[in-house]
Amino acid sequence: MRYRLLTLALGALAAPAMAQANGAGSGVEASERANSAVRPIGFADRAADDGVLVLAMSGTALPSIGLESSAEASLQSAIAAARFDGKAGSVLSLRGIGRYARIHLVGVGGDQERARTLRDAGGKVAQEMRDEAHSISIIGDLTATDASDIGLGFGLGQYRFDRYKSGAKAPGSDHKVIIVTKDPQAAETQWVARARPLVDGVTLSRNLSSEPANVIYPESFVSQIRDAFAGVGKVKIDILDVAAMQRLKMGSILGVGQGSRRPPRILVVEYSGGQGAPIALVGKGITFDSGGISLKPGTGMWEMKSDMSGAASVMGALLSLAKSGAPVNVVAVAALAENMPGGNAQRPGDVVRTMSGKTIEVLNTDAEGRLVLADANEYVVARYKPAAVVTIATLTGAIVQALNDEYAGLFARDESLATALASAASRTGEDVWRMPLHKNYIEDLKSDIADLKNVVEGGGPGAGLGATFVGAFVSPETPWAHLDIAGVNWADRPDAVTPKGASGWGVRILDEMVRIWKK
Ligand code: BES
Ligand code: MN
Ligand code: ZN
Repeated sequence: MRYRLLTLALGALAAPAMAQANGAGSGVEASERANSAVRPIGFADRAADDGVLVLAMSGTALPSIGLESSAEASLQSAIAAARFDGKAGSVLSLRGIGRYARIHLVGVGGDQERARTLRDAGGKVAQEMRDEAHSISIIGDLTATDASDIGLGFGLGQYRFDRYKSGAKAPGSDHKVIIVTKDPQAAETQWVARARPLVDGVTLSRNLSSEPANVIYPESFVSQIRDAFAGVGKVKIDILDVAAMQRLKMGSILGVGQGSRRPPRILVVEYSGGQGAPIALVGKGITFDSGGISLKPGTGMWEMKSDMSGAASVMGALLSLAKSGAPVNVVAVAALAENMPGGNAQRPGDVVRTMSGKTIEVLNTDAEGRLVLADANEYVVARYKPAAVVTIATLTGAIVQALNDEYAGLFARDESLATALASAASRTGEDVWRMPLHKNYIEDLKSDIADLKNVVEGGGPGAGLGATFVGAFVSPETPWAHLDIAGVNWADRPDAVTPKGASGWGVRILDEMVRIWKK
């Protein structure tokens, strides 16, 4: 009894302070725990004597590992019995041979592109070895570049988001992975300069998208980005809060945010590593999309915690570019708001005015992504005069109907951007499919009482209409392309380098595209 009184008293004391610190809601922090340690990736000129041995095989011939001859004979007969041929994608996993806990053979032979084969092999090995309580050595006939490519795949594939699991089982940080190559120094140099920053960028994006919406909301998104960029050179962070957005008359993003207790933000991270006007990457950052007053059905609504994946991926791409010191100028913009049906929420039929003065009739409050992007696009064009703008957003269910999770929709008003994105897609494996921007679409979006309406009721080409709307807020002389990632931002099944869950889609293609684009 006395105990209960005491906890009640403590609760009463603690509650207001916590609620204040948290801005709104229950005041209960979900967790302060980090994800389980992943394996540190390193390079050496010989394999460890124990643990897990992974053999990257191009045929059936074994690399020289120095196994006792009886163990080598067992291995050879297992290879023959299983008809393991070393073709890319083939695997053979064995236990109880020689001094190793497990010997795992992966095929990397055949004539597909080597970098991709090795990356994917590394990713699959990482997923296969997720819960192995041993160090891992990966050995094959590997150059320094090969080793770094395997490291890239391994780093992407071993991603885990388990911070909310009590007592999660995971390899300790002393369980490393060693990739064996004749030139470990050169491999380490390539890894640190290019592959590791890319893994860091993808990991940042996946973490932000995986977090529930009671943890990630506009302000906490900003503070996580500050933490991620702490100490990274040539980076400048700017934030527009509600007062700043009001001064700039950004009625469109403010309208989306006004139904939530958590205020909207525009977050701008600039990286200056090169010359000339920057490329602007603008991401949709709806930290939760309930639909607003045009409320979504309940089933699957939780997935809308990841409706900020575009914003997460532009930040991830910028992190990769900055950490690798890419010789480019880029500005990443996150248009952050929570779309909620609160008492002050905007209503279907409301008319809002963007920063430049364009008016929008909001016929459906669930078409909110295009509304936050409208102000963010106008702002970045006016303020930074970018050489190009790429928008990326979980914008429409229609793109999921059209392309499922195999491709993101690519819309482009500029052929050089389309080309750069298509070749970045084929290099990275983040695939895109070009979609049309017919000139009729903008006619269909004209409102009876305002300049534009945010939806065309009664169906139509939903993804193209959404893209056209977004492009209407990028001045026509600025090269612009748009990626609709509603189908690809969440992996329902794993691929070689992506475990199930938030995919971080966009980090790799944008990172690559920025490096290769020339007007
Ligand atoms: N965030 C959704 C789009 C979405 C749908 C993303 C499914 C991921 C999976 C977006 O804000 C939305 O609600 N779009 C509407 C637009 C419609 C009202 C014109 C849609 O696609 O239904
Ligand atoms: Mn919506
Ligand atoms: Zn949305």
